Amino acid sequence: MYRSLAATGVVTWRYKSRALAPRHACKGAIAARLIYIKPRPRVLPYSVVVRVTILHWRAAIMSIVVKAEALDKTYQAGEVAVRAVRGANFTIEGGAFVAFVGPSGSGKSTLLNMIGCLDHPTGGKLSVLDTDVTTLDRRAAAEFRGANLGFIFQDFNLIPVLSAAENIEYPLLMVQDWPADKRRARVTELLEAVGMRDQADKRPDQLSGGQKQRVAVARALVANSKLVLADEPTANLDHDTAYRIIELMKKMRSDLGTTFIFSTHDPKIVGEAEVKFTLEDGRLVNSGMSHAQSSQARRA
Ligand SMILES: Nc1ncnc2c1ncn2[C@@H]1O[C@H](COP(=O)(O)OP(=O)(O)O)[C@@H](O)[C@H]1O
Ligand SMILES: [Mg+2]
Repeated sequence: MYRSLAATGVVTWRYKSRALAPRHACKGAIAARLIYIKPRPRVLPYSVVVRVTILHWRAAIMSIVVKAEALDKTYQAGEVAVRAVRGANFTIEGGAFVAFVGPSGSGKSTLLNMIGCLDHPTGGKLSVLDTDVTTLDRRAAAEFRGANLGFIFQDFNLIPVLSAAENIEYPLLMVQDWPADKRRARVTELLEAVGMRDQADKRPDQLSGGQKQRVAVARALVANSKLVLADEPTANLDHDTAYRIIELMKKMRSDLGTTFIFSTHDPKIVGEAEVKFTLEDGRLVNSGMSHAQSSQARRA
């Protein structure tokens, strides 16, 4: 209906083509937001002008990006079996800001690593962006990660022989369609966003812990991945840098519909998260709307 109205000019349909491009976004219902209804008496006396804005992240919100059913991970450490994740059930919707919180050793990193295809579950089902990731072999998992995921590692995992700028550029070299000038511009944009422009040529061993973390954040965000996983992303950062990075993530979420999943203790991130999952000894003990989401709901 909107299409035919759009053709007559009665409805203005605005959407960005990238918006609906992600496979996972298309599958969900399209969320349309009615912005205003305004009579235009001189042009069409009895008609209304309806402007429908399709916000692609809203479209993405309608789809499920991660679905875990009875997800289990047991590590075998010699004779001892450590059940790091115990029967987790959860779904994460596209475009969400999600925080996994819990004490050290509760299974946050294990869960993120499984979603990021860095570790295999030992039980249950896990689907990420409509792909059953439990069946991917190493090579397929690497390809899947390269095409879809950004990962901010707790211990940074920067490549020691590359400079800060080259580390950030690295994921773009894996993607064919980034020409050199666009790549350079994007790397500069990210270096600025994380306050590291002056350190662009330094190698990781010449950077402090907080600076390495900023490079790791920039590297995870540079390729505009559909899903960004972040293991304690702001743990070593000062307040201003952490705030800038959260703002950058929020911008990516509203511009591109990126979904962010964090493990964190940081109240700033927990406060921004719309969904909070609490882990205790490998179990999800509660999940629900965080303060950010409930106040958003109150405003709506
Ligand atoms: N590779 C591993 N081998 C054996 N045990 C592990 C391994 N990785 C994590 N664990 C154990 O799994 C549990 C959960 O760890 P982790 O996911 O790192 O927790 P968190 O990130 O919440 O601190 C801990 O008991 C930890 O010792
Ligand atoms: Mg951890």
